[in-house]
Amino acid sequence: MVFPTETVYGIGANALDAEAVRRIFEAKGRPVDNPLIVHVHRVSDVGPLVDGLPEEAQALFAAFSPGPLTLVLPAAESLSRVVTAGLSTVAVRIPSHPVALALLDRAGCPIAAPSANRSGEPSPTTVQMARRSLGSAVTHYLDGGRCDVGLESTVAAVEPNRVVILRPGAITASRMREVLPDVSVLYAASVTAETDAARSPGMKHRHYQPRARVAVCEVDARSAAGRADGDLDRTFRDVLGMHAGDAGPAAVGVIGSADAVDAVERAVQRTLGSERARVRRRVAASLEEYGRNLYRWFAELDAEGVRLVLAELPRESGIGRALRDRLERASGGLKLQLR
Ligand code: TXA
Ligand code: MG
Repeated sequence: MVFPTETVYGIGANALDAEAVRRIFEAKGRPVDNPLIVHVHRVSDVGPLVDGLPEEAQALFAAFSPGPLTLVLPAAESLSRVVTAGLSTVAVRIPSHPVALALLDRAGCPIAAPSANRSGEPSPTTVQMARRSLGSAVTHYLDGGRCDVGLESTVAAVEPNRVVILRPGAITASRMREVLPDVSVLYAASVTAETDAARSPGMKHRHYQPRARVAVCEVDARSAAGRADGDLDRTFRDVLGMHAGDAGPAAVGVIGSADAVDAVERAVQRTLGSERARVRRRVAASLEEYGRNLYRWFAELDAEGVRLVLAELPRESGIGRALRDRLERASGGLKLQLR
């Protein structure tokens, strides 16, 4: 069953039924070494899934749940290792979307649910996106409108005396530090690289990519003029082929804040001209709005036949850190310095 949460849509099954959970991996084409998040209705439902609930986890759940926070905790012996992909830890979250909460309440069991997309694609933030991605592999779709956050939950491992954020999301390290002033809260990127890959198996797989190529753009008026325009021209040719634009203008998506979209559009006009490129703009009035719309814009631009998306790399504050993380993964490291 596909259902809405405040972050993205999930595809769920009874977490206590290993066979049902296996079918989720099948429907998504998900690598079996990538564990699922178990969703519960309230904090008192976490107990049976874990081997002890540390004080830090209790404090974080009390402060941020229901909401976009997932905690990785020692798993109960009895929990199926299909859910945890063989790990001895389990990821648990209490979503805040009323439809998700009503579903959990009626189901009366914990629900294992990854995002409702074929593995590797961006997560769906509308039921239509989920349906387009999974089709008849799923029979039931619950429509709960557009997701409010639009990016996946923060995933954080609670360890003795520290909390390690494995996937940035709407709940930031600084917000967690306010709740746990005596505990060190850090992002996994600042831990050594090799422990990283093993820590959150999902982060090593290809992720969040639309069909279009994504290039992240940093806009800085001080960039060297010729170099910046040359890089944009080269990227356009690489993505669309040497003779790109010969047979009429190619559609290029430009997304981000109004100022950034204006600047990138000017760079496209100056460098490629309207004979070669036609810009499809998507403008966000805030970082929250950028986060809320990112995946839906990817889907819309794909549907419009856009093959190159130029995405503003936003500042790091608040949801900006999660946005940067998803954009850098979607771009596979393709970055342009524009002016
Ligand atoms: O917002 C969300 O979290 C959405 C909604 C549906 O709740 N779910 C979601 O699930 O994004 P999924 O499966 O697409 O991402 C789960 C992430 C993966 O990166 C996975 O590797 C990580 O959580 N994860 C799950 N269990 C873990 C564990 N025991 N240890 C470390 N990482 C874990
Ligand atoms: Mg996912």
